[in-house]
Amino acid sequence: MKLEFIGHATFYFEAGTVKALIDPFINNNPAAKIKTTDIKKLTHIFITHGHGDHIGDAVELAKTHDALIITNAEIAGYLAEQGVRVHPMHIGGRTNFEFGRVKMTPALHGSSIKTENGTRDGGNPGGFVITIDGQTLYHAGDTGLTMDMKLLEIENIDMALLPIGGNYTMDTTDAIRAVEFIRPKKVIPMHYNTFGLIKADPKEFKSLVKDSEVIILEPGDSINF
Ligand code: NI
Ligand code: MN
Repeated sequence: MKLEFIGHATFYFEAGTVKALIDPFINNNPAAKIKTTDIKKLTHIFITHGHGDHIGDAVELAKTHDALIITNAEIAGYLAEQGVRVHPMHIGGRTNFEFGRVKMTPALHGSSIKTENGTRDGGNPGGFVITIDGQTLYHAGDTGLTMDMKLLEIENIDMALLPIGGNYTMDTTDAIRAVEFIRPKKVIPMHYNTFGLIKADPKEFKSLVKDSEVIILEPGDSINF
């Protein structure tokens, strides 16, 4: 799987025929070095929860590329009304797609959607465990530390994307505990330093994590795992 960090909590990955974005917050993302027009092909979009820095440019991108949006049922219902293709899932649900297996995981956070007609229910916030060709990627979404993360150990996660910015999500201290619960092979910190309220030092996080390899990516960096 090839994984690229776009910035904040936004990642792009490629595996076989799948070209996907997770939480496609690009054009207004202060950390992103690209715009949506730089994305040439997209087959799937995953959305963890309803907040603007996660739904981002999903509608525009889904329309441009005819990409399938995979998200919780409430967000899927909202986006379907805007004429995009959706696959609704929910927390704890696992399903097989043509490209691999996807499970939605719980997140301890909010999920309301800001619309032109006020705020709309975005269901429960979540994360995704995505398995393609034997490689498993976990995007935690925005979340605090939870005991539920202990259950992720049995998913044999190769790569975990964990928020460390604090204030709205886990800080570095709690993210270190999350790594101990999840026991992934590799970890990439995310959701830090994009805005003033989520300042964190990824090098400190890296120096304190013991049994997993921490990889710090700058926006635009990509890795294969
Ligand atoms: Ni959020
Ligand atoms: Mn967020």
